[in-house]
Amino acid sequence: MRPIRMVDLKTQYDKIKSEVDEAIHEVMDTTSFINGPAVQKFQKNLEQYLGVKHVIPCANGTDALQVSMMALDLKPGDEVITVSFTFVATVEVIALLKLTPILVDVDPGTFNMDMDALKRAITPKTKAIVPVHLFGQCANMEDIMEIAKEHNLYVIEDACQSIGSDYTFSDGTKKKSGTIGHIGTTSFFPSKNLGCFGDGGAIFTNDDSLATRLRFIVNHGMHVRYYHEEIGVNSRLDSLQAAILDVKLKHLDEYAVARQNAAAAYDRAFADNPKLQTPVRSASSTHVFHQYTLVTKDIDRDKLLEHLQSKNIPCAIYYPVPMHLQKAYLDPRYKEGDLPVTEQLSRTVISLPMHSEMDDEQIGFIANALLDFVNSND
Ligand SMILES: Cc1ncc(COP(=O)(O)O)c(C=O)c1O
Repeated sequence: MRPIRMVDLKTQYDKIKSEVDEAIHEVMDTTSFINGPAVQKFQKNLEQYLGVKHVIPCANGTDALQVSMMALDLKPGDEVITVSFTFVATVEVIALLKLTPILVDVDPGTFNMDMDALKRAITPKTKAIVPVHLFGQCANMEDIMEIAKEHNLYVIEDACQSIGSDYTFSDGTKKKSGTIGHIGTTSFFPSKNLGCFGDGGAIFTNDDSLATRLRFIVNHGMHVRYYHEEIGVNSRLDSLQAAILDVKLKHLDEYAVARQNAAAAYDRAFADNPKLQTPVRSASSTHVFHQYTLVTKDIDRDKLLEHLQSKNIPCAIYYPVPMHLQKAYLDPRYKEGDLPVTEQLSRTVISLPMHSEMDDEQIGFIANALLDFVNSND
């Protein structure tokens, strides 16, 4: 059996090595390393894939979120509602810009923003909602967009984990994750479903004037060369990364299918086990399985992790401490117990190896090892 990895980038690279190497060498031959033709080509291809008017490439997913908030002219003290059950970047940029993160609970099945919690969190100071499409499945975007419209709020989708997933509205309209809100953001961190060989990210919007603004901000707020009309940042996707991403974009849907097949095999193995909750699929979104995350019940999770590690099965806890209980983000607004679903998930979830290169033998081995532990601890 091939060694089991949480993410197997090496096997994935080996399969597309000639395409990737050729693309890299092309950039090296042109020596156009920043904003070269490879960046424009990838940008256009991604716009087409997503069905969105504008893709603004940038340096990483964290910057994509930060630049989005800068472009919306959010001001210190403005409240931005997001979830506590997320990667730190979502909350970090809100705090960094001196906006106020308002953290709400999630649905215990999909792990995405809870709509009642969202409605309860809106105040006259609320300016934006940042739904996180956690683990590869879209939050309830139809309701979020309606609530946002009613209260005149911006929506920035954190689609860092969900690129390629489709959201279906009740009238049958389908849109790609990240293209529904006023702005969408993604990350091309190597382990992401569309990952480069370093850091990378992008911002999506259908709004022409926002797109112009976003392009200025990622490039030092520069409208005319060396004339800076507003404060910006240096956040660029380099040409080598764009060339690699352009190759991988062609494979993104097939990678999603491989991940979905692996998830279905895990589901079959764990079906009806009273101690394991398999990922709940939302009726309105496809799931591209950035992570396959189980909720454990009445199991010593540390011992389970030890057991899996002893069999060379890597696993991860996304996320062990919710944002409202992290030292850097402590706020008198929240105390332990305030977001019970999030806190319970942080104590009980476990993410299994998940990537485009999983094979049946590996999945069977992982499932058996996990079930051995679960069933022997009855
Ligand atoms: C939900 C979420 N938001 C934001 C980010 C930040 O992306 P990056 O690591 O590219 O800055 C990530 C990825 O790490 C993420 O998973």
